[in-house]
Amino acid sequence: MSLPIDFGASLLTSTRMVLPNPDKRSVFSLERCNASDMPRIFELISDAFGQHHPYLGAQFPKHDTPVGRTVGAERILAEFNGDKQATFLKVVDENGVVVAGAKWKTHDGVVPPESKVEGHWWQSKDAKDYAQHLSTVLLVNRRRKLKETDGHLLSLNFLAVDPRYQRRGAGTMLTRWGTAFADERGIEIIVEASPMSVELFTKEGFNLLDDHELPLPDKWTARPKQWIYWMVRPPKDTKG
Ligand SMILES: CC(C)(COP(=O)(O)OP(=O)(O)OC[C@H]1O[C@@H](n2cnc3c(N)ncnc32)[C@H](O)[C@@H]1OP(=O)(O)O)[C@@H](O)C(=O)NCCC(=O)NCCS
Repeated sequence: MSLPIDFGASLLTSTRMVLPNPDKRSVFSLERCNASDMPRIFELISDAFGQHHPYLGAQFPKHDTPVGRTVGAERILAEFNGDKQATFLKVVDENGVVVAGAKWKTHDGVVPPESKVEGHWWQSKDAKDYAQHLSTVLLVNRRRKLKETDGHLLSLNFLAVDPRYQRRGAGTMLTRWGTAFADERGIEIIVEASPMSVELFTKEGFNLLDDHELPLPDKWTARPKQWIYWMVRPPKDTKG
């Protein structure tokens, strides 16, 4: 995978990094993902968000079924291979089990066009339109922030920890990779957070600026509602 050119910090040059695990109950290491990790990464996303995240269900129909998992793995592999501004990370335990994963994205001064939901994964046009709508409204704050900063920021695109391994510091490790990266460059970090993750991000220096239910037109009032928490971590004050 191609990584952003200016990966300069010592923390970021190694492909295998062992950071202190805040919890001490497990020995975790933080590593870059390979293409072969993508099925497991998608499984982690599906398991971690479960059925309580309408956005994931809309984007990845039936993501918890074998077919849905296969499709999800293919789609995330395409992202892994195609998104040159992305860094996919994993946390591995002492037995080699991948217990968590995350995708960080630099924007390198590029404000992307509005994202378009593509593919043939949806059972109906209505389901695809719903996925497109959620994607558009989810990313309103992100797009505004990208314009304000001319694309100079870091975003967290997903963070998922296997439910069997939560509260052992894996989420913190993956978050701290991004905070170290951003602090070196003096850039902000943005994330559309879930309820479960607000406390973690707050501990790591993010501010909760807004939370709201994603708006739906009347025709979809029966569909599940998605609540999001818009969090921004300011640039590190390098003046001391
Ligand atoms: C949110 C998530 C990533 C946290 O990962 P984790 O490895 O369990 O987090 P950590 O062990 O590093 O937790 C660090 C601190 O964050 C807070 N925290 C973590 N999970 C929490 C939860 N479910 N509820 C409240 N606070 C939580 C706690 O303050 C915790 O410290 P403590 O365990 O000493 O109390 C994980 O629960 C997850 O994958 N959730 C589902 C997917 C998701 O919501 N992803 C984030 C989307 S942006």
